[in-house]
Amino acid sequence: MERRQFLFWLSCGWLSTWLPAIFSHKAVAQDEFVSVGTLTQLKENGQILNEESPTGAVLVIPSPDDPDSLIAVNPTCTHEGCIVEWDSEQEYFLCPCHSSKFKVNGEVMEGRATLPLDTYTVKVEGDEVLVQPVI
Ligand code: FES
Repeated sequence: MERRQFLFWLSCGWLSTWLPAIFSHKAVAQDEFVSVGTLTQLKENGQILNEESPTGAVLVIPSPDDPDSLIAVNPTCTHEGCIVEWDSEQEYFLCPCHSSKFKVNGEVMEGRATLPLDTYTVKVEGDEVLVQPVI
């Protein structure tokens, strides 16, 4: 096999491996609710942190105003990408790296971050907690 042919088939193999994954990730991220955890996990831990969700990192917490409803944000700090933590007593998300604070709706309260956290629409089906990005 000539070198050119070898490189062509190598490229085809690489593309056939990665293209479906890339396109399926976009379809899931924009159009569908995806499961990120369970109500059981939420009750046990007070939150669901799923950094491997197909739609991106997700942190789900009970709403401080209504414990029967849920709030979900992308916990990736918009400053330099650390994972924020929910402070249930102070009712804000706190970045452990440079102390940016975000309101429950993701808006910046103070700190180095200037952009809000991304948010998700949340729904529950049985024990499953599902999210969809807010576009
Ligand atoms: S990474 Fe969050 S404030 Fe810097």
